[in-house]
Amino acid sequence: MCGIVGVVGNKNATDILMQGLEKLEYRGYDSAGIYVVNGQKTNLVKSVGRIADLRTKLGIDIAGTAGIGHTRWATHGKPSEINAHPHQSETARFTLVHNGVIENFAEIKSDYLAGHNLKGQTDTEITVHLIGKFAEEDGLSVLEAFRKALSIIEGSYAFALMDAKDADTIYVAKNKSPLLIGLGDGYNMVCSDAMAMIRETSEYMEIHDKELVIVKADSVQVQDYAGNAIERGSYTAELDLSDIGKGTYPYYMLKEIDEQPTVMRKLISAYTDDAGKITVDADIIKAVQDADRIYIIAAGTSYHAGFASKDFLEQLTDTPVELGIASEWGYNQPLLSQKPLFIFISQSGETADSRQVLVRANKMGIPSLTVTNVPGSTLSREANYTMLLHAGPEIAVASTKAYTAQIATLAVLAKAVGDANGNSKAADFDLVHELSIVAQSIEASLSEKDMIEAKVADLLATSRNAFYIGRGTDYYVAMEASLKLKEISYIQCEGFAAGELKHGTISLIEDGVPVIALISNNKTLAAHTRGNIQEVAARGASVLTVVDEATAREEDDIKVRTVHPYLSSIAMVVPTQLVAYYATLQRGLDVDKPRNLAKSVTVE
Ligand code: F6R
Repeated sequence: MCGIVGVVGNKNATDILMQGLEKLEYRGYDSAGIYVVNGQKTNLVKSVGRIADLRTKLGIDIAGTAGIGHTRWATHGKPSEINAHPHQSETARFTLVHNGVIENFAEIKSDYLAGHNLKGQTDTEITVHLIGKFAEEDGLSVLEAFRKALSIIEGSYAFALMDAKDADTIYVAKNKSPLLIGLGDGYNMVCSDAMAMIRETSEYMEIHDKELVIVKADSVQVQDYAGNAIERGSYTAELDLSDIGKGTYPYYMLKEIDEQPTVMRKLISAYTDDAGKITVDADIIKAVQDADRIYIIAAGTSYHAGFASKDFLEQLTDTPVELGIASEWGYNQPLLSQKPLFIFISQSGETADSRQVLVRANKMGIPSLTVTNVPGSTLSREANYTMLLHAGPEIAVASTKAYTAQIATLAVLAKAVGDANGNSKAADFDLVHELSIVAQSIEASLSEKDMIEAKVADLLATSRNAFYIGRGTDYYVAMEASLKLKEISYIQCEGFAAGELKHGTISLIEDGVPVIALISNNKTLAAHTRGNIQEVAARGASVLTVVDEATAREEDDIKVRTVHPYLSSIAMVVPTQLVAYYATLQRGLDVDKPRNLAKSVTVE
């Protein structure tokens, strides 16, 4: 949420900042701005809307050797030019960009900033005024002023600060929000995500919470808040430039949906040994074996992936699995078992709600595993163990390939633990073979795009609301399918347990309400869901059925090639991803960047 970039050195700062912001736009896109310094000349340009809107406002003479930039997802104050970052201190000597939430901003304003002329409503503007006050009114050096402000500020933040009197330096600090240093030859950079700077460098340095970093063109000094120097090495980010481009696709979402068969195959090769046997780090297997209960903590789509994985995790590891919504568990943790293991599922590895639970788990000494797409992400670094999704960067805000990769990765874990325990169901479950069948099933669904697009046009073109229904794992897919539809097409949609509709919600069914029924290969559940379809059809619903081939009837609308029941969520979700994509396209909306959302949710 919110993206930060900064650069100092022998590069055209405006170009670097703008290219970086374009790559970070997925983190927030309600407004943006850059601050660029060229000798004595400074330029601050801000705009409401997308990075493209900011670009049209830039004059040709805005060039410089240092600068900071920001793309915003509003928390305090509506999206407006005044509230867009960068923000400046009272005299405009200090300029600041921020990702996070300053919790005590109201107290700071009343305790320290009487008489200050604050233009907007953001917590960030208050912070930069505070720094300016300490430096200009109280006579502290920049570093002293920044440190003093950091000692007062409470909350989550990644800051990049510039002082117009010493524009060869970017001062950086972070707590709970992500920020990295990119290392170049004659220049150094600051960014929320390596993706922003991968064109310029693959060498990065991590910053830990409550560290202050002084970034110059030829040096990077890391300190704790007391000013003690900290030695920090760099690492090479394994990101391929072509992974972050759209190629010939109109939208990232379609590209990422299409990548799913490849992701399944990549996962097979990442988690098999030379003999073709599923392999997982022995310490991770032991952590599961030692646990008497697994608690899966996640948000949104990742939470749904947890549900889709619960059944096979329980069956193959012989360990009960409970799920927790991260934002609830941060503050309302239920009574735990004697030997819990926490599994965090997170595409980004940066979700603040999940991290809040992890911080608590670490304090309680509870072992933890993060299942994430991003190596080196906060949840990965702070958990005891990590399993990677190997899905490649997911840029569309609506998660697709990460969801299916999360289920497949947890299947790898379940199979490895089951094998280690001598579980007979695990012995019968040839995961490598089954995942390759899943890849083929996805390919078959992808080849039906035109048919799905036409069905969507008939069903959803003008609807304001819709339902997905299913039973068992199909219910879990219904939850995910409805989230996908509503987040990008703005059609209000509920994912419902098919049998539960008649207990109240069926009163919402009237002529023409779209109901999409998911039926995969459990015959008894299928028969019951068909009964529920009759109930809604009798009340006027327009029904579309998505059914796996083993269960399908001639008249079913979308048929999905049958896969192993443990993995059916992966195969069944793909047509629903395409339903969401085409419904959104047909409504003329931005598929990749739906309103009010951001890809990486780094505030609680
Ligand atoms: C929806 C979506 C979100 C995320 C959620 C958690 O398409 O992507 O619901 O799943 O914000 O994010 P991660 O997985 O990064 O923890």
